[in-house]
Amino acid sequence: MLRLQLPLPERYTSATSDELATRVRAAKETLGDSLFILGHHYQRDEVMAFADARGDSFQLSRLAQGRPEARTIVFCGVHFMAESADILTGDDQAVILPDLNAGCSMADMADLDSVEEAWDVLGEVVDTERVVPITYMNSSAALKAFVGRNGGAVCTSTNARAVLEWALGRGRWADDGPRGEQVLFFPDQHLGRNTGYAMGFTEADMAVWDPRREQGGLTEAELKERTFLLWRGHCSVHQRFSPDHVAAFRAEHPDGLVVAHPECSHEVCAVADAVGSTDFIVRYVDEAPPGATIAVGTEIHLVNRLDAETPDKTVVSLDPLVCPCSTMFRIDLPHLAWVLENLVEGRVVNQITVDADTAEWAKVALERMLAIT
Ligand code: 13P
Ligand code: SF4
Repeated sequence: MLRLQLPLPERYTSATSDELATRVRAAKETLGDSLFILGHHYQRDEVMAFADARGDSFQLSRLAQGRPEARTIVFCGVHFMAESADILTGDDQAVILPDLNAGCSMADMADLDSVEEAWDVLGEVVDTERVVPITYMNSSAALKAFVGRNGGAVCTSTNARAVLEWALGRGRWADDGPRGEQVLFFPDQHLGRNTGYAMGFTEADMAVWDPRREQGGLTEAELKERTFLLWRGHCSVHQRFSPDHVAAFRAEHPDGLVVAHPECSHEVCAVADAVGSTDFIVRYVDEAPPGATIAVGTEIHLVNRLDAETPDKTVVSLDPLVCPCSTMFRIDLPHLAWVLENLVEGRVVNQITVDADTAEWAKVALERMLAIT
C-alpha cells in the first residue's frame, strides 16, 4: 500500500538546527534503551550525530537483528533497509523510517510483476529449477520473498561474491556442487557484473535482461548459455562515475588511490585500485598510508565524512560534480525530531511493516544470506 509522507507541523519546519538537535537529544534521553537509531553511511552528518550505530546495509541488517531489547528501531536510511530490519526483528519491535519518501530509485527498477514475468518467460526456454534468483538488498520485500520461494538468496555489496559462489557451487561451496547453473540477478546489473568478473567470469558469460523488451531482449541461445542474467537496473548516483574521472584524478595525483563501490560500472571498477561496499571503503581509507590522497567513487556524504574524520589523509569524490543520493538526503533533523517526539508521547509514526506471508519468505532469503556470510 502506497503511503505518503505527511507534511511536518510548523514546530519542526521552522525550528533552527540547534533547536532541533537539542530536542532530538532530549527525546533520545527520555526513550533510553527502548530506542535504537541506525544510520547508513550515506546519511547527513547532523543525522549521523544521533545514530547509535553506523554501517553499510549488511551491517545494519545484522545490527537490527541483534537488538531484541529495543522496542523501536529508527532506521536512518532508505525504505528497503527499514523493511529488511522489520523482517529480521521481533513482532514486538517497531521499525520507523523518518521520511516515507526515502525510497531507492534502483530498487524501483525491478518490481514483483516484471520479475515474475521474466521468470515465466525464462521458464519457457530453460529449466528454472537450475536458475538461482539472487536479489540485491536494494529491492522490495516482495522481491526478497520471490527469491526465498524460489531457492535463492539476498546479497549485499559486502557479500555478493560469497552468495554468488554459493549459488553456483564455487569457492567454499565447490564440494557441495552447484545449486544452479545460472543466476538471475536483480536489480543492479553493475554489482552482478563486477562480482562475476571478480569470480573469473567474462562478458561472454553474462547477458543483460531488459524488462522492457520481449524475452528480455535476449535470444534463446543467450538465455540458455549465459551464466549471469543481469537485470537492467542501476544506481543513478554510482553510474555517474566514469573512467575519465579516474584518468583525470590520476593525472593530477599520480600516487593517489582510487576506491569504488561495486554499483559503479565495470569500466570504472576495472581501473580502480580497490572495489568494495561502503564498509570496505571506510576500512580502505582507514588503512591507507598517512598523507595519501584517495578518490572515492560513492555517495558524497560518506566521502566528505571520511575526509573530515581522517585529517592525515585527503579524501575526495572521484567525480568533482557528484550529486548526493536524493532519497537518503530526505532523512533530516526535522523528520528525526518528529518521529522521536511522537514516540515520547506514545505514538509510533511512519512504522514500516511487511505483511506476514511476504515477511516469512523474505526472511528465508535474508537468513540464507546471513548463513552464507
Ligand atoms: P552498501 O551495501 O554498501 O551499504 O550500499 C547500499 C547502497 O544503497 C549503495 O548505494
Ligand atoms: Fe539507491 Fe543509489 Fe541511493 Fe543507494 S545510492 S539508496 S542504490 S539510489
